[in-house]
Amino acid sequence: MNTDDYLGKDVEAILHHETTIYARLDELALKITEDYRGTEITALAILHGSIIFMADLLRRIPLPMQFQSLNVSSYHGDTESSGVVRFEHDLPDLRGQHVLILDDILDTGRTLHAIRKRFEEEAEAASVKVCVLLQKRKERAKEVEADYVGFEIDDEFVVGYGLDYQGHYRNLPYIGVLRQG
Ligand code: IMP
Ligand code: MG
Repeated sequence: MNTDDYLGKDVEAILHHETTIYARLDELALKITEDYRGTEITALAILHGSIIFMADLLRRIPLPMQFQSLNVSSYHGDTESSGVVRFEHDLPDLRGQHVLILDDILDTGRTLHAIRKRFEEEAEAASVKVCVLLQKRKERAKEVEADYVGFEIDDEFVVGYGLDYQGHYRNLPYIGVLRQG
């Protein structure tokens, strides 16, 4: 991977190259396929962060599937979570469906906690599981667990492969630590 590119200059260290990500996605997809065999999944992508992860993961799962998305924001552009989770629209109709929530990263846990709460209050889904590409090793502000985790990472601000800093860097093909300051 040639990292001497325009965007790569802002990346301090590469945590996971494209090839490592793909290998891990193969494993995750196999596990999900085994777990859901015989059921139709409704994949619910949390936008925008999960978009690239979602596209690569879902194409590896050869099961019947529906797709929905939810626009939720919590960061509002900084590298520290604001603590406020904002739903940009209502939940889609997920009644009786086996929902697999896909998110980019489990950090403080506030986003997934708020989504789970909302689900319990109004979704009437048949089942709900969570799959995240990344999970930070840290104490969470809200207790929430993911059923499927791509990679555990240290508590650093990362970008690429869908993850952004102020809307930028999502198109980097790898996951890297953002150079600060
Ligand atoms: P949480 O609510 O604190 O768990 O954060 C969840 C959301 O914050 C994620 O879906 C990301 O959009 C964003 N986020 C948290 N950590 C990072 C990071 O290291 N890089 C980029 N975005 C992050
Ligand atoms: Mg974000």
